[in-house]
Amino acid sequence: AFKRAIPIAEALRRGEGYATVRGWVYRKRSLKEKVFVVLRDATGVIQLVFQRDKFKIAEDLNIESALVATGRLVREPRAPGGVELHVEKVEWAYAGEPYPINEDAAAADSEYLLDVRHLWLRSRKMQAVLKIRHTVFEAIHQYFRRSGFYEVQTPMFITAAVEGGATLFKVDYFGQPVYLTQSSQFYLEALIYSLEKVYVIAPSFRAEPSRTRRHLTEFWHAEMEMAWAGMEDAAKVGEEVISYVVEKVLQERAEELSLLGRKTEPLERAKPPFYRVSYDEAVEILRKKGVSISWGDDIGADEERALTLEFDKPLVLYGFPEKLKAFYHRNNPDRPEVTLSFDVLLPEGYGEVIGGGERIYDPVELVEKIKRFGLNPEDYQWYIDLRRYGSVPHAGFGLGVDRLVMWITGADHIRDVVPFPRDVRRTRP
Ligand code: 4AD
Ligand code: MG
Repeated sequence: AFKRAIPIAEALRRGEGYATVRGWVYRKRSLKEKVFVVLRDATGVIQLVFQRDKFKIAEDLNIESALVATGRLVREPRAPGGVELHVEKVEWAYAGEPYPINEDAAAADSEYLLDVRHLWLRSRKMQAVLKIRHTVFEAIHQYFRRSGFYEVQTPMFITAAVEGGATLFKVDYFGQPVYLTQSSQFYLEALIYSLEKVYVIAPSFRAEPSRTRRHLTEFWHAEMEMAWAGMEDAAKVGEEVISYVVEKVLQERAEELSLLGRKTEPLERAKPPFYRVSYDEAVEILRKKGVSISWGDDIGADEERALTLEFDKPLVLYGFPEKLKAFYHRNNPDRPEVTLSFDVLLPEGYGEVIGGGERIYDPVELVEKIKRFGLNPEDYQWYIDLRRYGSVPHAGFGLGVDRLVMWITGADHIRDVVPFPRDVRRTRP
């Protein structure tokens, strides 16, 4: 019987005739003779009208009760979507228990909506975010595949740190210590010698001890690597993939952006070329703004925020001093104190979404830098090995997908755009 049901969006489009809809109670209001129920499915909401005397069940419905109902569609300007369904038959009604989420519960405890995230996913807000996430992942795949990148898969259990030992998660692997990957970069670097242009979308893990607006311990990482390429080539791919994703979301998710109250002007402006700002220039800009920073200091979240507020679209920040970036970055041969590295920063204060650059392709230079960074070349044996056979200039980056979704949706916190977020204090639900 449920097979006859049509999506609520479709029922609203039809606006007349008979229809069966199915979904969950979003709101309920009882009048003398009628009960008005707003029903929600994955596509939208519609108002159902029950005659109270004919449908005793309508009284028992709670928020989030499940329902399948058939009736006549009637145009009604006062109803959400301009159409209501006058119920003639109820085919499934699962009243369930009173729904625990309400404004009072949420207001009383800022962690509450995170504690009940398994239920809060049903909210219209989460629904809109999840649909935008869906489109973002789709667009990333589309961009890379259409641009000649091969999709590859990489391991999550690893033995050597990519991004430094401090944020490694240790796992007991049959009695041996291994780690959860922080980045698939080294595996992508191996794969370019087979496929030249590769990408992967996978989780990355960081034991980030602090809770911030933009850090998770498990996040989705879209990484690419290409042979025969330098820093600027990778930066171009970075600005193209971001603008491609944003364009697609603007086209296909206008309704969801509006439901979230997101102003779209900053998104519409995010077209290539993004601004290019060197690390040196960034330090100057920040000093002029009164930020106390000297050459060689890190550009952290606060500095990024101050910097991005100076620009009306994303920027490529490049040429970081050697000690600010991981060992694998190639130093600029004309100016060895800086690396051929870049970050892409999102506007409106959001900051870093991409980190990448050109890699060291010379084995001697690589081993020297590994040692200079106090690391043990033995731990990087196979990574160094890649440089011993037909090494070529290559570059790539990692894009934090959750951070991109955060900016696109205008969220205050990265946790708000992930269905089941993981941070230092939360591994549940
Ligand atoms: O800048 P990161 O650390 O660069 C790398 O991991 C490189 N190995 C990537 C590469 O070149 N293939 O991380 C890349 C991006 C950041 O810009 C950020 O968007 C995201 O990953 N990211 C995080 N997102 C959420 N929570 C965290 N804890 C994140 N750490 C990094
Ligand atoms: Mg980074």
